[in-house]
Amino acid sequence: MKLFIDTANLDEIREVHSWGILAGVTTNPSLIAREGRDFIQVVHEICELVQGPVSAEVTAQDTEGMVREGRLLAKIHEHVVVKVPLIEAGLGACSQLAAEGIKVNVTLCFQPSQALLAGLAGAAYISPFIGRIDDISWDGSDLIGQIAAIYAGNPSIHTQVLAASLRHPQHLVQAALAGADVATCPYKVLKQALKHPLTDIGNQRFLADWETVPERDISVLVERWLQSR
Ligand code: E4P
Repeated sequence: MKLFIDTANLDEIREVHSWGILAGVTTNPSLIAREGRDFIQVVHEICELVQGPVSAEVTAQDTEGMVREGRLLAKIHEHVVVKVPLIEAGLGACSQLAAEGIKVNVTLCFQPSQALLAGLAGAAYISPFIGRIDDISWDGSDLIGQIAAIYAGNPSIHTQVLAASLRHPQHLVQAALAGADVATCPYKVLKQALKHPLTDIGNQRFLADWETVPERDISVLVERWLQSR
């Protein structure tokens, strides 16, 4: 499973990118609005930094408008993936844009039937929202599993399952176990996913014990060993 970050904040993206595990970025109108910056400039900067798929969402609500905005967004950078909502107009736009070779992320997926239609429309990604489904007492990870199974059984569908709306590290684990191709995580969830108190305690203990070793400068030790050979 590949890992994307769900943010439009360049500082957050830069930090996680430095870990060497970031494959892409998803944004949405709410995340872009939060930054208070020029939409196009932000998307371009993210693409240049990450050099992987970056979802940028259309806001038109009719197929013609979505296709027009999608074509324009695709001009920003070769890594732009056009994001469209899973409504009738979005399905039509997805079909048209995909036929033109523009990658589309179909978003706001809450049931397997929607994912099937998006897959048949040629979506590059389908975004089921795990967290928002859990919020209404359904099982978000179950939805991921069902979509993965549907796609696996339909060889004509080449859509990747992009688990979205992740609220905690357990969602990341559930997405991976359920067969998601990608999970997009908020910065906070990625930091939580990395952190464990026993890791920090163990690390401190190793360092404390190492302080008792008289000769402990690794570069000096290795240099001396290399010269003695
Ligand atoms: C997906 O691409 C969306 O940007 C995102 O995951 C939505 O998450 P939320 O439900 O936390 O807003």
